[in-house]
Amino acid sequence: MHEIIQLSDDLIIGKGRDRVCYAHPHKKNLCIKISIGSNKQSKREVSYFKFLTSRHTDLSNISIFQGNIITNLGKGYTFDLIRDEDGSVAKTLRQCLESKKLTIDEIQPKLHDLREYLVKNKICVRDISPSNISCQETSQGVNLFIIDGVSNANINPLTIRFQSFINASIAKAWKGLERKLARIEKNLLNDH
Ligand SMILES: Nc1ncnc2c1ncn2[C@@H]1O[C@H](COP(=O)(O)OP(=O)(O)O)[C@@H](O)[C@H]1O
Ligand SMILES: [Mg+2]
Repeated sequence: MHEIIQLSDDLIIGKGRDRVCYAHPHKKNLCIKISIGSNKQSKREVSYFKFLTSRHTDLSNISIFQGNIITNLGKGYTFDLIRDEDGSVAKTLRQCLESKKLTIDEIQPKLHDLREYLVKNKICVRDISPSNISCQETSQGVNLFIIDGVSNANINPLTIRFQSFINASIAKAWKGLERKLARIEKNLLNDH
């Protein structure tokens, strides 16, 4: 029998539409995602991570799935928890922009590199929003990680296997990302 991990509200790192993300109470570098409704999103990620690891994909800019656990709140999916060099949980791109820690112009070259990385390593994504990217602060600068949405972009099993389909998924995700960034920029300007 596996130990049941106890989760409580003070461990909450963030909430999305589908899942609540908790810091693992015993393992500093893991977070635990608990689905609000069905486990569809997590299941989709798990099956795609299996595929990526079977292909020895370079996952250096991705928060990687690290296994299932049982918690007092039901089934949990563990992933790498992205932390800054000083140990604090890395902020999302949305948090960094809204708190004016970073500007969109400053981060664009890094987003460009992140996109190139996905294309080069044939990694499919869906729903890349500023809340699904972590900005890890280090003395060398900011590193970007995708923390949500690494999965087949649609129901077509061929999408993850062919470069043109993969590129289309990335292009679509980036369009959505650019749209959301533009909205954040507009809101920041209106706040003045
Ligand atoms: N690996 C991670 N490292 C740091 N923070 C994370 C990580 N995963 C999720 N979070 C935080 O939790 C929030 C919700 O998690 P997410 O996986 O995006 O849920 P959803 O699938 O519902 O959108 C994120 O927007 C972010 O603030
Ligand atoms: Mg999310």
